[in-house]
Amino acid sequence: MHVKIRTLKDIRSNLSEELKGLYPEPEINALATLIIKTLPQAKKLHHIYDPGQAVDAANIRYVTEIIKELKKGSPLQYILGYTDFYNCIIRVSEDTLIPRQETEELVDLIIRENRGYTGNILDIGTGSGCIAIALAKTIPGSSVTGTDISKEAIAIARGNAILNNVIVEFKQEDIFNPLEILEFQPGIIVSNPPYVRISEKALMHRNVLEYEPPSALFVNDYEPLVYFNSILNTAKKILQPGAKVYFEINEAMGKEMIILFETFRYSEINLFKDINGKDRIIRGNFNG
Ligand SMILES: C[S@@+](CC[C@H](N)C(=O)[O-])C[C@H]1O[C@@H](n2cnc3c(N)ncnc32)[C@H](O)[C@@H]1O
Repeated sequence: MHVKIRTLKDIRSNLSEELKGLYPEPEINALATLIIKTLPQAKKLHHIYDPGQAVDAANIRYVTEIIKELKKGSPLQYILGYTDFYNCIIRVSEDTLIPRQETEELVDLIIRENRGYTGNILDIGTGSGCIAIALAKTIPGSSVTGTDISKEAIAIARGNAILNNVIVEFKQEDIFNPLEILEFQPGIIVSNPPYVRISEKALMHRNVLEYEPPSALFVNDYEPLVYFNSILNTAKKILQPGAKVYFEINEAMGKEMIILFETFRYSEINLFKDINGKDRIIRGNFNG
């Protein structure tokens, strides 16, 4: 390491030097801010970071360890063990996907369209529980259930509900073999299921491919909508007319998703773009 860490500013310079070529510069800057935010002494400044502020020996060791792991490609959220998601602290492990900003946008849309909602919400493929927990916290009259095939993810999600002081029921269930789900009567179904085609792997960063669970991400190229199809099949057995379904989707599949919703007799089908202008969210109302 060339830049010796003595102050908060040095963390930024050191990170920039160590991670050059591994991450784009704006991402390195964002990582530096996130790391600084975790230092107790920086927190005391209420997020106004004085670049000249000294970093003590224990924190220098802590930051140096983080940088070592980042250089190996490990995502910062796995190194820290948690992330922020829609004003919730969400613990993550290598059994859960790291919640993404696009997913916060999905949650935000649901909240904006369903203020004061008091019915049931079902989150399929809940992972860390981020969507379910953020909805339970922000739509307090609702009753939220999350399901996932992964028992490890369900354990993390349950811990996250406690951590965020909300009541969410979590159940382990395979969407291709739904049993308990058939007992629910949700007015809203939400899902961010696996939707990245195997052929799209080449476009992905190594820290996603090497660290995040493949079962949370990938689908075969020959059936890219298999999860959405299965969820809509289950939905038609449990939804009342007027119920809403929200999905996070593959940006390249907007048209196909609209057709799929139409096939299942949904109306008011809308595609929404994410912050990067990509078709990322779809919502439809079930006609019955
Ligand atoms: C893209 S991740 C989404 C996780 C979380 N909801 C989020 O938005 O960060 C997809 C999730 O679907 C789960 N999953 C994969 N196959 C499943 C199946 N057959 N039935 C239920 N869940 C499944 C994975 O374990 C993973 O947690």
